[in-house]
Amino acid sequence: MSKILVTGGTGYIGSHTVVELHNSGYTPVIVDNLSNSNIQILNQIEKIIGVRPEFHQFDLCDEAQTKTFVQENPDITGIIHFAASKAVGESVEKPLKYYHNNFFSLINLLNAYQGKPINFVFSSSCTVYGEPDTLPVTESAPVKKAASPYGNTKQIAEEILEEVAAAYGNYNTIALRYFNPVGAHASALIGELPLGVPQNLLPFITQTAIGKREKLTVFGGDYDTPDGSCIRDYIHVVDLAKAHVAAIRLLEKGNPNGKYDVFNVGTGNGYSVLEAIAAFEKASGQKLNYVVGPRRDGDIIRVWGDVTKSTEQLGWKAELGIDEMMASAWAWERYLQENPIG
Ligand code: UD1
Repeated sequence: MSKILVTGGTGYIGSHTVVELHNSGYTPVIVDNLSNSNIQILNQIEKIIGVRPEFHQFDLCDEAQTKTFVQENPDITGIIHFAASKAVGESVEKPLKYYHNNFFSLINLLNAYQGKPINFVFSSSCTVYGEPDTLPVTESAPVKKAASPYGNTKQIAEEILEEVAAAYGNYNTIALRYFNPVGAHASALIGELPLGVPQNLLPFITQTAIGKREKLTVFGGDYDTPDGSCIRDYIHVVDLAKAHVAAIRLLEKGNPNGKYDVFNVGTGNGYSVLEAIAAFEKASGQKLNYVVGPRRDGDIIRVWGDVTKSTEQLGWKAELGIDEMMASAWAWERYLQENPIG
């Protein structure tokens, strides 16, 4: 069984990917500093897959610890690198935190693997496209100037990977550009666990519906879209997790496109904020308290992905639709109400 290092493996997307790796016959090994996740997630993963994944708590920004870990775990053949800071607003206030965390961890990991063959999957974002000129947006669309330090770390990290893969022979890399991950595992045992007030739409919706927040504000109702609210390509986190397994598989068999490649990971469908709310109300049977308010600075008006390349070359396609996304997110919120974590 190939051992795959999952950095940030107790986080939202990381935990779902650990489950899917296990289900596909891989042995996931988690490294996480728990800065934005909870150790109880390990118990939750164990409840789903029946075994407790190997877990190491340290910060990948620590070069010596990262090197030691790599030396002591020579049987790791692949890495899925999630561990990073990801709050857009915070990155504008604390850019140095973002450049420090997101680059030092990446560079320490790459350095520690110098000279060793390694498959490397990187967590990137559709944020690299900015406001796309054409839709659906393809992987060959131009990368626009980043709207935040967070977005800039994703763009620069992609460049680092491309250059590193070209310069040395041992790194086989794929960057996955996620659209908007939502939803939770069908067991409702893992899901998104935001610290404090959620910044993203779905946890804000579910927390409002359960009574933790008074009301949701729709950021802008006067955009040039059919109903005036922004449009996104929401992707079920379990589908997204499976895309990582597909990326590891492609790297293992040898990617004909070369040592660096990028793939969109979305459904190819766009939903407006108001459509997402309607889908949530339908799936949950709950009426959501919301108001349409002012626009949020820096929001993209509309973005959804062209998934032809992922379908044809990654051999992956999203299977779950908006109803499953909403129903699973709601089941997770209700589970958390009965079984608080953290
Ligand atoms: C945001 C980031 C993106 C990042 C992603 C990580 C920005 C501009 N973009 O994506 O770079 O990769 O998070 O998860 O921050 N909305 C509301 N009310 C709310 C919250 C959100 O109306 O309380 C709307 C937003 O205006 C947007 C949609 O819901 O239209 C989705 O928002 P969000 O979940 O924050 O994701 P993005 O902004 O797409």
